[in-house]
Amino acid sequence: MSRTDCHSSLNAVCPYYTMFPLDFPLRVLRNHVRPADVVVDPFCGRGTTNFAARLLGLGSVGVDSSPVAVALTKAKLADARPSDVLRVASAILDSMPPHVHLPAGEFWDRAYERSVLRRICWLRSELIRDCRSDSRVLLRAILLGALHGPRTKKTPSHLSNQCPRTFAPKPDYAVRFWRSRRMKPPAIDVLDAVRIRAHRYLAQRPPRARADVALGDSRDPDALRGHRINWAITSPPYYGMRTYIPDQWLRSWFLGGPSEVVYKPPARELSHASPDAFADDLRQVWANIAQIAASDARLVVRFGGIADRDTDQVGLLKASLTDSGWRLTTIRPAGNANAGKRQATQFVHGGPSPKEEFDFYATLE
Ligand SMILES: C[S@@+](CC[C@H](N)C(=O)[O-])C[C@H]1O[C@@H](n2cnc3c(N)ncnc32)[C@H](O)[C@@H]1O
Repeated sequence: MSRTDCHSSLNAVCPYYTMFPLDFPLRVLRNHVRPADVVVDPFCGRGTTNFAARLLGLGSVGVDSSPVAVALTKAKLADARPSDVLRVASAILDSMPPHVHLPAGEFWDRAYERSVLRRICWLRSELIRDCRSDSRVLLRAILLGALHGPRTKKTPSHLSNQCPRTFAPKPDYAVRFWRSRRMKPPAIDVLDAVRIRAHRYLAQRPPRARADVALGDSRDPDALRGHRINWAITSPPYYGMRTYIPDQWLRSWFLGGPSEVVYKPPARELSHASPDAFADDLRQVWANIAQIAASDARLVVRFGGIADRDTDQVGLLKASLTDSGWRLTTIRPAGNANAGKRQATQFVHGGPSPKEEFDFYATLE
């Protein structure tokens, strides 16, 4: 087993919509990097590229417009012992007052057992108030991973009633589902769930690496200013996929967002008005990276599509690279996003099905 394999448990701390496998950035970087290289991912998601950089001892930069993505990426770069995380969780729970404000409504009554919801809400408010230490950043990611998921026959490992793991359920659908099956939420011991997960995900602790992760819009020329990078490895949103925030509404709530789903497209989202508008937005991101890239830098983009958008995704990505400061050198098929551990396995739950993915390699012009 290589050093990167045996240090990789933290990568699984919380699933993320359309994540790509850790093996992808590792494979790109493994045989080519120099020790001082810095890697950027302008659509960092759950921080897979940043984590791969850490495993290889490289500095990294990550930007994402989703607070859930930023919280997870920060955790991929943090370092604490399981006992540090448990100590923080236990101190927060010990300070829980008799009255904690709970969100109201049938969804919340059926999603979480009352005493579990009180603890979740108290941990939420304390981690919103202060999430500066690595132990708190890791505790927050562990709770995001535990917040919802399937119920098992054995000891429950998620805090919720039966739910999908990768994305949050729509409240009305979930209520009907639980009601018709008479499913009750588990009275799970929250601290115990944190303990099990902390030992699982922090059993190995890869050495720290320099990193900067920010909530932002990668089209903004200031989003990446001040950095110098040698590699950009990324996967932009698929054209037509506009549900990154609503599909993560429960995890967004835990980070301070509203206690109901908001379907309005977020302001920082790329334009999905037409393939041309989408390509223009991507071109802006590639141009921003070119501005901060060393002369021998490489850009590697994994890009897929969804079947209900009849778009030529290869043509779209090629168009986005034109006049961006980058020259396309190679395109390779990367398989279907549903195959094996590929990204976007969430689409099997009745959403749009993914198309073949491709890897695009480019150098500076
Ligand atoms: C395909 S996902 C990236 C997944 C990532 N490779 C991983 O392994 O988790 C695309 C990401 O782009 C983010 N995004 C969408 N528009 C953005 C923008 N304008 N600026 C920065 N991030 C954006 C989404 O929030 C989402 O996390």
